[in-house]
Amino acid sequence: SDTELGTYPHYMIKEINEQPQVMRKIIKEYQDEHGELKIDKNIITQLNEADRLYVIAAGTSYHAGLIGKEYFEKWAGVPTEVHVASEFVYNTPLLSEKPLFIFISQSGETADSRAVLVDIKEKGYKSLTITNVPGSTLSREADETLILHAGPEIAVASTKAYVAQIAVLAITAAVTARELNKVSDMNLMSELAKVTTAITTVIEDAPKIEEIVTGYLETARNSFFIGRAMDYYVGLEGALKLKEISYIQAEGFAGGELKHGTIALIEEGTPVFALSTQEKVDLNIRSNAQEVKARGANVCVVAMEGLEQQGDTYVIPKVDDMLTPLVSVVVYQLISYYAALHRGNDVDKPRNLAKSVTVE
Ligand code: G6P
Repeated sequence: SDTELGTYPHYMIKEINEQPQVMRKIIKEYQDEHGELKIDKNIITQLNEADRLYVIAAGTSYHAGLIGKEYFEKWAGVPTEVHVASEFVYNTPLLSEKPLFIFISQSGETADSRAVLVDIKEKGYKSLTITNVPGSTLSREADETLILHAGPEIAVASTKAYVAQIAVLAITAAVTARELNKVSDMNLMSELAKVTTAITTVIEDAPKIEEIVTGYLETARNSFFIGRAMDYYVGLEGALKLKEISYIQAEGFAGGELKHGTIALIEEGTPVFALSTQEKVDLNIRSNAQEVKARGANVCVVAMEGLEQQGDTYVIPKVDDMLTPLVSVVVYQLISYYAALHRGNDVDKPRNLAKSVTVE
């Protein structure tokens, strides 16, 4: 059944392996019989009426929200802000006239997010929850719900839910763009199908990725994940994944910020993961990789096919520019998994963490 390990040693690796299947399920669920993108009419109305989107989430779901913002703004032209749920109450932004609040939560139970939902409902604002769990608190209490269809996620470190969140956000943004008559030459569903194949390729490369870990992380105390544009956001998620289960201190940051402080931490052998999937920033991120290498860092470059250079550590198959996070994150998931495994940690139940945090 969905909640049994079967032949897998851990839920995390099982869930990483389920990602192609989750993608196929989402493609099926969000398509009508004519192959057109499909989401609920009420949700379309909500999105059409909003003048600004406020995405609220925590942890990995927050990182998915950052990617979602790119879709809503670049495809649909709808201004979008992404907020950490626990901070929203203090650092409340000025709200637009017709805000729509989008809660992203795997479990649908995160107390920090619920606190914001309760508050904005009192103020009379509209809400949409994107969750993996139908009938969860955030789903019941919001006006509308979109389901992730990722199947139960048991491992504390979220993997397939993140990929599902990005895919559902992409579909939602593409539908919004269509309703707003924004022209697009991209067939999202066929691009998502290509993504699915690319994810499968990365998963099949797991043994190769395990070797990368041996070289970079077996004895590391700290590590850095750099990227620019969307790759920066994936770096944040890569760092979170690694620290959650390997207990190696990991920091994700924008390539351009290196020189403004973090580069001081680079020592002989410090592992630095540099992601390059975006043509427009490829040269810049590569010069960042050089800068840290010159100071002794052990640099692992993950590049997309077409942007790869000799000496890169791992190359991911080519997919649409905007959809690369769905593929590149899988490399980081596997790196984190093997790092935790090689260090003898409890992969599925890391210390001090809970799958869903129901206290503020
Ligand atoms: C916990 C989990 C994280 C998760 C976060 C948000 O801290 O350990 O993996 O990203 O909650 O959870 P949610 O269910 O709201 O997505």
